[in-house]
Amino acid sequence: MNIIQVSDYQKLSEMAAVIIAGQILRKPSSVLGLATGSTPLGIYERLVKLYQEKCLNFSQVTSFNLDEYCGLDPQNHQSYHYYMQNHLFFHINMDETKFHIPNGLAEDIEAECKAYDEKIKQAGGIDLQILGIGHNGHIGFNEPAHSFLYGTHQEILDESTIKASSRFFEDISQVPTTAISMGIGTIMEAKSILLVASEGKQEIIQKTVYGPIDPQVPASLLQLHKDVTVVYVG
Ligand code: F6R
Repeated sequence: MNIIQVSDYQKLSEMAAVIIAGQILRKPSSVLGLATGSTPLGIYERLVKLYQEKCLNFSQVTSFNLDEYCGLDPQNHQSYHYYMQNHLFFHINMDETKFHIPNGLAEDIEAECKAYDEKIKQAGGIDLQILGIGHNGHIGFNEPAHSFLYGTHQEILDESTIKASSRFFEDISQVPTTAISMGIGTIMEAKSILLVASEGKQEIIQKTVYGPIDPQVPASLLQLHKDVTVVYVG
């Protein structure tokens, strides 16, 4: 693992945006795995700026988001569809047929999950997967468990995750209790991985990087991946 400690959120955002921009410049048809949440906001802001300054071209990029809440309409302001459109897709020249987010309204969730993994495969796999991390070590919405779940699946959200997510909702009762998430296997198959963690995540980063590999800390499996960069505020 390549571990980069930075002093503040601005530096984290800059460093991560540089890594992502480098990937797109090296391979304009990159397949990116994207995350939502508060941590990537500064990164997306910088990528949009690089596009506006004509330094980056997203026209050949394909993307797959890690997750989406079950039961939220894409127009819902708390859905990850809405987040991605407003923070990134609406502001860059990405082809709208090339970005993918699991459909949290799918009638047959199992079929949706299977089809999602299939689409990733057909796209040639993910070149660079961006990950945030929960205080409990979740990546995507792979919550602490007794075993690592391989493929995209429906996940029951941890109480701590629901509590953390409630800051984006009017009321905690509005936070969905399940989500569709790429599995740990889907994530591990990415050719390279960029994990970003902002203030207050030092403890879980220590466990992830130096602790035992344990499904109770889902991110710890990243120790076995051959190309992971961790950028964290410490
Ligand atoms: C979001 C996701 C989650 C978040 C994690 C950290 O797509 O997959 O794993 O990355 O919950 O969220 P923030 O960045 O809000 O602390």
